Amino acid sequence: MTSMLPRTEVATLDVRTIRADFPVLSRKTASGKTVVYLDNAATSQKPRQVLDAMRTVYEEHNANIHRGVYEFSERTTAAFEGARERVARFINAPEPREVIFVRNATEGVNLVAYAWGRDNIKSGDRIVTSVLEHHSNFVPWQQLAAETGATIAVVGIDEDGRLDRDQLRAELRKGAKLLALTHTSNGLGTINPVREIVAEAKASGATVLVDAAQSVPHLPVDVADIGCDFLVFSGHKMLAPPGSGVVWGRASLLLKMRPFLYGGDMISRVAIDTTTWNELPWKFEAGTSAYVDAIGLGAAVDYLQGVGLEAIHRHELALTGYLLPKLLATDGVVVYGPKDLADRVGVVSFNIEGIHPHDVATIFDSEGVCVRAGHHCNQPLMNRLGTAATTRASFYLYNTFEECDALIAAIGTAKRVFKI
Ligand SMILES: Cc1ncc(COP(=O)(O)O)c(C=O)c1O
Repeated sequence: MTSMLPRTEVATLDVRTIRADFPVLSRKTASGKTVVYLDNAATSQKPRQVLDAMRTVYEEHNANIHRGVYEFSERTTAAFEGARERVARFINAPEPREVIFVRNATEGVNLVAYAWGRDNIKSGDRIVTSVLEHHSNFVPWQQLAAETGATIAVVGIDEDGRLDRDQLRAELRKGAKLLALTHTSNGLGTINPVREIVAEAKASGATVLVDAAQSVPHLPVDVADIGCDFLVFSGHKMLAPPGSGVVWGRASLLLKMRPFLYGGDMISRVAIDTTTWNELPWKFEAGTSAYVDAIGLGAAVDYLQGVGLEAIHRHELALTGYLLPKLLATDGVVVYGPKDLADRVGVVSFNIEGIHPHDVATIFDSEGVCVRAGHHCNQPLMNRLGTAATTRASFYLYNTFEECDALIAAIGTAKRVFKI
């Protein structure tokens, strides 16, 4: 943890105008405090444009998709499939049929673990993953390994929270059937250079899944450029409603995979003895999809593209570059994760010595500052860091430098309360 921070970057977003789109950000807490929402890695707030897109469906043409031949159903179907096309363009997917709507990133990883994993991972195969993974991109593989007799190798990190690339290369050299890796860490904010890593993994013959739950909302993500085989993310972390999520997969793999869930919509023809499957992507969308949520995701994509992902990333790094030195200069504060802005996104994990993170978050709450305290679904990572929990502040496009100051002031309050 020695590298120096580069000069604080200058914010480029018109945050005041952006904030006006988010009604919830102007609410006060019950005790009259202005809300400082710094829990965006857990979930994001939603702009009017997303709420309006969803309200339009309900108020103007709601009907179940794909089934009706009447106007309402056709309009809703067109909006749903239009959202798929937007998402496909957003991540530069070669074809919209490679975009499968699921409820969230967790369901996305499970879809791949069942529909690809159960046919491709065998006893003795090796699955490589990392200590940075969210439980959602670890437990499904752990369970698959337990079921099939495969083994799991967990790549570690250096003192600054960056992936141990030498260990990863060594693991890949031993022969890996699958690499399941996060793009950016929800616990430390580390960015994994997935393009380089995927090239190494593919050269060694591995299939690669990238967990992009914390990157697609904040950085330009291009699946063709990354070169992975599967990529998953959740809508609710990127201005869209909970219930919207995506698996992107290469058509050549998806076509060969068995379905994940069985039932309506995912079939082509059902007879008493046998059933054939629908085409992509519907083979993987059993039952009535959360179509209004997916339409909300399409509107969120429009919103994010309107602001620009490069600009959002720069803004979040500017906030991080402002907050980190203040945290590092605060007595008794331990900061985790890369100090070099080039290696990170706007997720800042820290502890105040002598105060449990849950107490920190509770005192912050009394000041209107919303942060997350706990293991962040990163228990292997917490073990590696030698702590049970951290306090985590995470930024998005609507956060401000004043909110960073509010967090620093709340640390002062916590230390006063605990007489530290
Ligand atoms: C890196 C990462 N992967 C996966 C997930 C799971 O997302 P969800 O709970 O929306 O399925 C999260 C959620 O925090 C995450 O941060």
